[in-house]
Amino acid sequence: MKKIGILTSGGDAPGLNAAIRGVVKSAKELHNMETVGFYFGFGGLIDNNYTTISDTSGFLTKGGTMLKTSRIKPFKGENKDEKLRSILHNYRSHDLSALVVIGGNGTQKTAYSLQKELGLNIITLPKTIDNDIAGTDVSFGFSSAVDIATEAIDRIHSTASSHNRVMVVEVMGHKAGWIGLHAGLSSGSDVILIPEIPFSFKRVYECINKRVEQKKDSTIICVAEGAISLDEIELSISELAGKRKFRSIGQRLARKIEKHTPYESRLTVLGYVQRGGSPNAFDRNLATILGANVANLIEAENFGNMVGYIDNKAQAIPLEQVAGFLNVVKKDNPVMEACRSIGISFGD
Ligand code: F6P
Repeated sequence: MKKIGILTSGGDAPGLNAAIRGVVKSAKELHNMETVGFYFGFGGLIDNNYTTISDTSGFLTKGGTMLKTSRIKPFKGENKDEKLRSILHNYRSHDLSALVVIGGNGTQKTAYSLQKELGLNIITLPKTIDNDIAGTDVSFGFSSAVDIATEAIDRIHSTASSHNRVMVVEVMGHKAGWIGLHAGLSSGSDVILIPEIPFSFKRVYECINKRVEQKKDSTIICVAEGAISLDEIELSISELAGKRKFRSIGQRLARKIEKHTPYESRLTVLGYVQRGGSPNAFDRNLATILGANVANLIEAENFGNMVGYIDNKAQAIPLEQVAGFLNVVKKDNPVMEACRSIGISFGD
């Protein structure tokens, strides 16, 4: 009986358990393969902290990851050689035919290095609420995060209106604006600020004032955590990190609005609620579809690929086209064009 290893690494996202279940069930069903799960991402592979996964009943709908996760990076930090030796030893001692790595951008890079430098047989799956992985149209976790952010902003509307306030809602997304763009549109936000479009504070104040002139009682601003203002663009990465250490972009924006306009402003940081809880139907299915393609690739010894979702189909994408690349919102994105057409401001 062939044995495969699996782990989840990086920040968690809705759909991880559905993906594990898809891999485990199809591996058993199609090729009678056994699955060994390593806990806490690459940490479990280094420490040989593992379990044999035989039953995934009930996990389709569960948030988080049954295998736990961590941001441990075996190629970084102290004792690198020792960690890599342990990984190779554990991979061989379990007699694994392949290792399935589920994660975001950093994880894809590590997985690719494990294949190149240690010769492990790697297959990856794209997981992140940020949707910033290259080689796939969408990653699982993203759709659920957008749903959660949308529902939260829906609720902000009535309190914004009751108080005639400018409400700033900060969403996640790391260096990409996917959650901000999609949740901003679906929640009826008036301004959307994303990292891909540096914004001017002045333009945001103008937009607020214009809405008041139009007799609108409130303004909703959906700002991605990585959004950057034109005055910050000149800063180096370390200067920017210093500036953001104590005050996020949402905090700065809400304060500045109160200082430079006559209106009250409040900030809501949605934070980890966007990552927690049950995956929506789309993410359950996407994670299962991608996971269910893994065993066939392993059986065909078609290693070194991520199973991406392109043109509504699961497709094997070589890791060299994934690792180190970032999928960000492009200027001609149709969602962005629709936003502009209905008068949503990007602060530019
Ligand atoms: O990558 C997913 C993500 O949720 C980002 O949107 C966010 O910036 C980051 O992870 C938070 O990471 P951590 O779990 O390390 O606080």
